Amino acid sequence: RVHSLARVEMTDPLTTKQKVKECLNPFKLSTQDLNSVLERLLKEMEKGLKKKTHDSATVKMLPTYVRHTPDGTETGDFLALDLGGTNFRVLLVKVNADGKSTVKLESEICAIPQEIMEGTGEELFNHIADCLAQFLDSRNIKDKKLPLGFTFSFPCKQIDLDKSVLIRWTKGFQCSGVVGKDVVQLLIEAIQRRGDFDIGSVAVVNDTVGTMMSCGYKDPECQIGLIIGTGTNACYMEELQNVELVEGTEGLMCINMEWGAFGDDGVLDEYRTKFDKEVDAQSVNQGKQIFEKMISGMYMGEIVRLILIDLAKENVLFNGMVPAALQMKNSFETRHISEIEADTNSLAEAHKILTSLGLEPSDDDCELVRSVCSAVSTRSADLCAAALTAVSNRIRQNRDVDCLKITVGVDGTVYRKHPKKTHFHNSSLAPQCDVTFMLSEDGSGKGAALVAAVVQNKNMCS
Ligand code: BGC
Repeated sequence: RVHSLARVEMTDPLTTKQKVKECLNPFKLSTQDLNSVLERLLKEMEKGLKKKTHDSATVKMLPTYVRHTPDGTETGDFLALDLGGTNFRVLLVKVNADGKSTVKLESEICAIPQEIMEGTGEELFNHIADCLAQFLDSRNIKDKKLPLGFTFSFPCKQIDLDKSVLIRWTKGFQCSGVVGKDVVQLLIEAIQRRGDFDIGSVAVVNDTVGTMMSCGYKDPECQIGLIIGTGTNACYMEELQNVELVEGTEGLMCINMEWGAFGDDGVLDEYRTKFDKEVDAQSVNQGKQIFEKMISGMYMGEIVRLILIDLAKENVLFNGMVPAALQMKNSFETRHISEIEADTNSLAEAHKILTSLGLEPSDDDCELVRSVCSAVSTRSADLCAAALTAVSNRIRQNRDVDCLKITVGVDGTVYRKHPKKTHFHNSSLAPQCDVTFMLSEDGSGKGAALVAAVVQNKNMCS
């Protein structure tokens, strides 16, 4: 204590301010910076869509084979699986259950233990089939052979709605023997290995697509799906004639952008801080998902933790002591950021959280920690807003209209918990787009079921 007090006395308040500024300023992106980010993203989008440049593009712009948002006539009982966030879920979805275009839900969460996330693909799919069997058993519907919507939220090269090949894992998943394989086939094989139940036709969707579909069910202007959760990504309806990887020129197709990989070729390097680089270096997918690592829930807490350590080492936080609790990876959780920021009138929340980490923070410490949280979460929202602007402006130009009215279906805990949601839409970047955000109600479940409904109709017609 005496030692740390002595250190505080030596600190000149001006230098303290300068040190904080030096540390947090790189997180502030000007309108000019954001415009430059969105211009770069537009170039990447173009590269992803074009046959000649697709292979080298970082933003893959993957065709989803979803050609229109729901028209409200979809009906039936569907199973839905949701893999790709922090939890795995099984759902039973009744589309149009009572003739009033409603979608009802029953669901169960199954944890995915760390050893399964990093084990073999066979273990992962066995686990999924086990959870599904338990769910069907508990509801006495094991003999029903229901169609299934599979929300699989990783970059996949879709061959059709029911065939989807994993390009790479993200968000901490690392199961062996899955990259390059069709995940529908792996699921069916795992169910067959059990041999005690069967499923109907399967449709694979990304969570962004499920989110757009579930909102599109209510609002036909919903043509963009956005996720800001453990990972981040967006999808939108593109003119089919611009999607060179798919035959045909008429109508639209939903494109899974996979914008999390934006920057993997270095185009965002000038905006990355030393903390972003450190988070990347410590991750299981180094050099990959660079944009995602600046934005999403899996990484924001870590960025804050590394800044706090730096500021403590600089002697401007925690009396110049680097607390042991903060030295542990992931000890500062992303949810702490929104909790601290939401508490605008007091420092109580910051105090509570820092104390729970074993610290004895002063008011100045709490205040500074809140500034750090705000710098990181504001940058996340700013980058998202810039990327969304690129998308909505592209749609506006595609449709050749002066002003585009568009709804963004959105989901993910980072968005849900963000205290300043208006930051996700930056109207100064896109004055010609009138953008509304619509929170999705369980898009990964309902949206996947709606796509499964489309597949089922297609099968019935052919
Ligand atoms: C995945 C995307 C997904 C996003 C949000 C990213 O890591 O690559 O497919 O949509 O996370 O869950």
